[in-house]
Amino acid sequence: MLKSPHIAVVFHSVCGNTFLLAEQYRQSFEKLGAKVSFFRLFDPNYAVTGDAFPGSRAYKEAITSVELLESPARVLDCDALFLGSPTYFGNVSAPVKAFMDSFVDHWVEARLAGKWFGGFATAGTPYGGADMCLLALNLFAQHMGMVTVSVPSTVTGSVQPAYGIAHYSGDLSDRRPGAGEAEAVASYCAHVMALMTGRKS
Ligand SMILES: Cc1cc2nc3c(=O)[nH]c(=O)nc-3n(C[C@H](O)[C@H](O)[C@H](O)COP(=O)(O)O)c2cc1C
Repeated sequence: MLKSPHIAVVFHSVCGNTFLLAEQYRQSFEKLGAKVSFFRLFDPNYAVTGDAFPGSRAYKEAITSVELLESPARVLDCDALFLGSPTYFGNVSAPVKAFMDSFVDHWVEARLAGKWFGGFATAGTPYGGADMCLLALNLFAQHMGMVTVSVPSTVTGSVQPAYGIAHYSGDLSDRRPGAGEAEAVASYCAHVMALMTGRKS
């Protein structure tokens, strides 16, 4: 059992929705007493994608002010990884895939084995494949030998898939995560902390 877990929250976001969910994870885990390292992933297409969604401008500064994750080695010392992706064509986005693939050497040494994992995703609509994006995140964790924490039915707030927390941002990507998602993230994080520390949530 861990006394005070060190948690990495890593995300990719252009329009701000996955960033806002990641912020909710950061705040929830910090409130629960964990140490949180908070990172964004590099996106070489940030400007092009951002131009397609005017709503993205509202979060550009907030996203780019988050520390850039230069190397996967930065998360190796953490006890848990929570990884967030926008759904791109029913899958994770390219920056998230590149991040996952960058663990190839660490996979050989099983450096993430036994650590805790949770994925979160945003998508335009509930029919747009966020579940599959979450499954892709979970598959990565399973290849790494990590302990994936699914979302139990007791989690409160907005209704969530078992595979991780999801938010649906609408056609213009400007419907932001609200109180329901904040409660779901807080409730899920309390569940995760109880598992990691052996304390009741
Ligand atoms: C290249 C691209 C592909 C997308 N594919 C999907 C998709 O398959 N299903 C869906 O529901 N939304 C899709 N979207 C919408 C995004 O998943 C959605 O706007 C998401 O909330 C963006 O996350 P962000 O606000 O963190 O950037 C796509 C957006 C882009 C730019």
